[in-house]
Amino acid sequence: MPISPIVKEDIAIIAQGIAAEADKLSGKTVLISGGAGFLGKYFLGVFSYLNENVLGKPCKVISVDNYITGDRDENFDFSDKHILNVWGDVTVPLPVREDIDYIIHAAGLASPVYYMKYPLETIESAVTGAKNLLELARKNKLEGFLFFSSSEIYGDPDPRSVPTPETYHGNVSSVGPRACYDESKRLTETICTIYHQRHNVPVKIVRPFNVFGPGMKHNDRRVIPMFAYQALNGEKLSVHGDGHQTRTFCYISDAMTGFLKVLLAGRAGEAYNVGNEKNEISMRDLAQVFVELSGDKSSFNLIPYPENYPAGEPQRRCPDLTKARSELKYTPQVDFRAGIERAMNWCRTQESYMGKQVVKELVNVV
Ligand SMILES: NC(=O)c1ccc[n+]([C@@H]2O[C@H](COP(=O)([O-])OP(=O)(O)OC[C@H]3O[C@@H](n4cnc5c(N)ncnc54)[C@H](O)[C@@H]3O)[C@@H](O)[C@H]2O)c1
Repeated sequence: MPISPIVKEDIAIIAQGIAAEADKLSGKTVLISGGAGFLGKYFLGVFSYLNENVLGKPCKVISVDNYITGDRDENFDFSDKHILNVWGDVTVPLPVREDIDYIIHAAGLASPVYYMKYPLETIESAVTGAKNLLELARKNKLEGFLFFSSSEIYGDPDPRSVPTPETYHGNVSSVGPRACYDESKRLTETICTIYHQRHNVPVKIVRPFNVFGPGMKHNDRRVIPMFAYQALNGEKLSVHGDGHQTRTFCYISDAMTGFLKVLLAGRAGEAYNVGNEKNEISMRDLAQVFVELSGDKSSFNLIPYPENYPAGEPQRRCPDLTKARSELKYTPQVDFRAGIERAMNWCRTQESYMGKQVVKELVNVV
């Protein structure tokens, strides 16, 4: 299937957003874990675009995934001979023989329903996966190691620390239902920091705040693809609790620009928030946006938290982006409504969203 014009345009925008930094990838080799995931697929798209249009010498990319939640997506088949997709599990050391210049550790279980289903795999993909990749990093003269942490490391922040800066230490339970995700990301940040301090690995950490866009699977169970699926199929959207909990959502082209800036221009040993602080919205209002986009074919109702959804969700999540703005000149561009419309237009081209396929245990998660 040809790449969607929406995705192509996003990728060109991302490449433009990193015009000042992109050349650092010329002739380099990048290893990415989680390359078949939502963000991974966009990374491959950007590398392919850079190879064709920007770089003096193409970069070689080794994309590794164990397909626990990701898949080989024909909508994102960039057919670039410099990109190698391989099955691999980062919880065991990877038999990589060639020299690597950049490592991106994006493997993980990002959707709460899946990390509740696979709690130990969630911990291992972050912690053991990072340890194995950091050891690989030590054997190479690495130029950058990007670890995908999460805004979840802040837990349910004190209202006085919202918007939340990188210096906020978090309010997280070590034994709660979200702990497998939050605590494994926190510990992995610690491990990354030690490898930087002890072994000089140029580690950079990103803490994404709810990224959305084309490429999210209809059964991903995160709130945007779930609402999109329900709205497009004229179903009732389920909003948990009172619906007053808020999130900020960042469109994929903004987020990817931020991630690549952190990798290529961020300071080693540092963590950076990446998101969009302007887009804070309650789940009620979010549901209403989707109802409107469905042409009022759907509606929403408030439901108690389902059992397979991890309790203790943060009431508010909004990034303080001062650090990324001042150090990396990161400025998100895409207004929330415009991003949602764009994502919905992509969903409309996808059989999986429009085909009324059965999605078991429909729950929305954020
Ligand atoms: N997308 C977001 O909004 C967001 C927000 C915060 C953090 N993150 C983090 O960013 C990373 C990428 O997010 P995403 O949205 O692309 O997630 P995703 O779930 O879509 O993709 C993750 C990929 O990792 C793969 N994977 C899992 N365990 C693995 C293992 N042991 N070995 C190899 N591959 C493995 C999965 O099969 C999947 O393809 C994740 O680590 C996630 O926790 C994402």
